[in-house]
Amino acid sequence: MKIVKASQELLATLNEVLSMEYGATVQYAQHHFLLSGPERINFSNFFDLNSKEAHLHALNLGSKIVSLGGVPTTQIAPVHQATTLSEMLAQDLTMERSALAAYVRAWELAEGNQILRFWLEDIIRLEQLHVEELEKMTAEQQSKVTANT
Ligand SMILES: [Fe+2]
Repeated sequence: MKIVKASQELLATLNEVLSMEYGATVQYAQHHFLLSGPERINFSNFFDLNSKEAHLHALNLGSKIVSLGGVPTTQIAPVHQATTLSEMLAQDLTMERSALAAYVRAWELAEGNQILRFWLEDIIRLEQLHVEELEKMTAEQQSKVTANT
């Protein structure tokens, strides 16, 4: 299959996402470090795992940018920190939504490069799951179930 080189706009968008994945790596790690109280029993590991996943996404993305003829950024997106679990989850939801939107922008710019689109779609599916989980954790999304009578 012919290799399709990426446009400057696509590379810039992928680099924007890379900086967000670096930011997510640090933000989740910081939430892992700072969370205290009984909630730490359940959520410390959640933040730890999400930090590692964001780091893996960053590494994959940097390699992909090089394959497409670009240079990976070393910039890290702004990191937000908090001391309560609810604030942390709200910050993480905002961050995940931004990353998802940027991945979708990259997908749009990848028109004509089906292989890259498939690759992006795999990540977009995972990022969407993160957003949906965080929407539930922050109770932004609640089911409309009513008790059976
Ligand atoms: Fe990610």
